[in-house]
Amino acid sequence: MNVLDIQNIFTEAEVKINQANGLSELEEIKHFFLGRKGEIARIIKQIPELPEGKRPSAGKEANIVKNKIQVLLQNRVQQLKTVKEKSQKTDISLPGIKKELGRRHPITIVIDEICKIFEHIGFTVVEGPEIETDYYNFKALNIPEGHPARDDLATFYLPFENTLLRSQTSPVQVRIMKEVKPPLRVLSPGKVFRPDNLDASHSFMFHQIEGLVVDKETNFAHLKTALSYFIKKFFGEDVAMRFRPHYFPFTEPSAEVDISCIICGGKGCSVCGRKGWLEILGAGMVHPNVLKEVGIDASVFQGFAFGLGIERIAMLKYGINDIRLFFNNDKRFLKQFA
Ligand code: PHE
Repeated sequence: MNVLDIQNIFTEAEVKINQANGLSELEEIKHFFLGRKGEIARIIKQIPELPEGKRPSAGKEANIVKNKIQVLLQNRVQQLKTVKEKSQKTDISLPGIKKELGRRHPITIVIDEICKIFEHIGFTVVEGPEIETDYYNFKALNIPEGHPARDDLATFYLPFENTLLRSQTSPVQVRIMKEVKPPLRVLSPGKVFRPDNLDASHSFMFHQIEGLVVDKETNFAHLKTALSYFIKKFFGEDVAMRFRPHYFPFTEPSAEVDISCIICGGKGCSVCGRKGWLEILGAGMVHPNVLKEVGIDASVFQGFAFGLGIERIAMLKYGINDIRLFFNNDKRFLKQFA
């Protein structure tokens, strides 16, 4: 027996103790090293066989290692006990934390509903970019230089040449007519941007849905039929519709479309400004200049188009009196829509 043996025993004990994961395992390790017939006892038994001069130092060494192993064992026991206590503090019988389910935003709900109604009569949903060029947002739509809609009080211009945030969904008309040959029957929902000051009825970002039909012998009666179908499906069979002459550069003739006030039934109230009618969309026959610009022969094909503001329609449908509620992300508001 020599000093090396006892050091090896210590190293072995140290590794085993650190790796032990349970109290019973530690008990076994204790027995193996410190037990009556354990490793340390075996060493001590050999001491009398050593030359007399070496016996005291070997005995001392064996005692030191024995104490060190004891300390290691105690520390590890303590460590494992605190880990166990901590895990016991988690009461797994408590009810779990309920995860809130997300739901569709009211604007999405209204867009989906409108798309569904028009899909039923053959429309296909398409999308266009929110960052547009002057060409698609204005020029190709027959909106000349100097038109007030081009004013930077009416449009957000971007610091790159001829780019802007689209101020209407009508540029999608141009994009689709350039890409796809008629007959066409498309619907295009999306965000539009205008530098309006925020108040109860204005927001610098809102949503529109654009509708476009191009076919042979398409006329104003087709426009009226499609819109009347939509209005009755969306607002109800009793709701009346009226067309007022209007002006848009990209449609001719143009109209604004009103529905009988869904709050007062047409009698006159504060929502309709005592008029009994609510303006909900703009529409008209696609202007021949626009057809020409996209390369469609206006003597063969005609088209109608319409554009409606989603927030306004959603406010009327749900009786919401402030457009800002849609964008404040107050869960108490958003939760009310299925
Ligand atoms: N783009 C028009 C607007 O934003 C609405 C519109 C679309 C009018 C299509 C006629 C035809 O006011």
